[in-house]
Amino acid sequence: MLANRILIRDALVKNPSSEAVVSGWIKQIKPLGKLIFITLRDRSGEIQLIAKKELDNFKVLSKVTRESSLVFKGNIQESKQKSGGNELEIKDFEILNQAETPLPIDVGAGTSNIDKRLDHRFLDTREEKINAIFKIRSKIYKLTTDFFDDNDFTNITTPKITSAGVESGAELFEMKYFNKKAYLSQSPQIYKQMFVAGGFERVYELAPVFRAENSNTTRHLTEFTGIDMEMGFIQSESDVMDVIEELFKFILNKLKKECKRELELLGVNPIVPKKIPRLSMKEVKEMLSEKGKSLLESDDLDSEAESIIGKIIKEKYNEEFVFVTNYPWEIRPFYHMKPEDDKNGTKSFDLIWNGVEIATGAQREHRYNILKEQAKEKGINLDEMESYAEIFKFGCPPHGGIGLGLDRMVQRLLNLDNVREAILLPRDPERLTP
Ligand code: 4AD
Ligand code: MG
Repeated sequence: MLANRILIRDALVKNPSSEAVVSGWIKQIKPLGKLIFITLRDRSGEIQLIAKKELDNFKVLSKVTRESSLVFKGNIQESKQKSGGNELEIKDFEILNQAETPLPIDVGAGTSNIDKRLDHRFLDTREEKINAIFKIRSKIYKLTTDFFDDNDFTNITTPKITSAGVESGAELFEMKYFNKKAYLSQSPQIYKQMFVAGGFERVYELAPVFRAENSNTTRHLTEFTGIDMEMGFIQSESDVMDVIEELFKFILNKLKKECKRELELLGVNPIVPKKIPRLSMKEVKEMLSEKGKSLLESDDLDSEAESIIGKIIKEKYNEEFVFVTNYPWEIRPFYHMKPEDDKNGTKSFDLIWNGVEIATGAQREHRYNILKEQAKEKGINLDEMESYAEIFKFGCPPHGGIGLGLDRMVQRLLNLDNVREAILLPRDPERLTP
């Protein structure tokens, strides 16, 4: 029967009185004496099925459990229900896989807690709204690669087993590598800079990033998908911000068309940026202090500060994004370039979307001697990172880039209260399965 299967979205518009074969999962089944009403779901939608008492194996069908997968052959007829569309009167059916009872989670009812849902994620994602999150994520992934491709960036794949990290503060996962110590990559930072210098000028990578951050928050994972880019021959970090601004205009404009149904289902209507405000850390701290939140000159923005800034930006500019620029040197890694006239600053920025940091970027220091000094200030010996140090000795151009978190982007776009909702199978200090 499966050979003749059509998708539910096509069955819904097929001529009445024709025959059709559909298959999917049982969302609902209601045996009512002489009739059985079934709501069937496949990847394209839902349709109502009706079985009459005369059907062979009527009794067997009446006992089929929710979330079982079946294939049905029947006659298309116009639905008498208000919602309109077609329904199918069942003439034959086959059970492909009967679901055990009880279901470990209440698919679609929204009553199971997030931990339980994640334990049985493949059932959870059958629910339309949850499914929509990952359709949107899939589209963002594709649009991101389209954008970089259109703008002359080369997609690179770099090792995730590494000998050292460069992100000060971000913890490393140590692993055994034969008779040596190795670490899971906490960023492709070194490699993306390497291949800017390697003649590609513009590179990007979408890949897993590992951080041994032992914190349980709604925004931290120990494994997430990084969107990293790096570009050469820039004049300043503004060139990087310009590209990222265009990236978000591109993604959101396309998403509004290509994921219209999913966005509506989730009740989200994102604002495409007109012009992303660029505010220095100093200006931001002044704005915060007016709202009663005071921070020291060398402080980073905490999550409360980011959330307040998100609200101010929405009110003042009707924008969801803001670039916070000129971060203090004290809280940035050694490879960020310092401005000529400010030895306590960096030519760096964060991008905040709806009140949460989704990216960090900067112009990098490309002059070997200065970089070596900067590393020393942070207690790092550049020459011990031989293959990194080398790239600055053979014609490395001025360059800069950014690292974005895909999971956080999806979370902020859809206003999900936890980043774990935006990733299929999250990893955090407590969770290692499924
Ligand atoms: O801010 P981060 O640590 O910056 C870097 O990795 C630099 N190499 C970027 C650069 O090019 N200068 O990480 C970049 C982004 C964050 O803004 C956030 O969106 C995401 O990666 N991120 C995480 N997402 C989920 N869980 C975590 N533990 C994350 N840590 C960072
Ligand atoms: Mg950051």
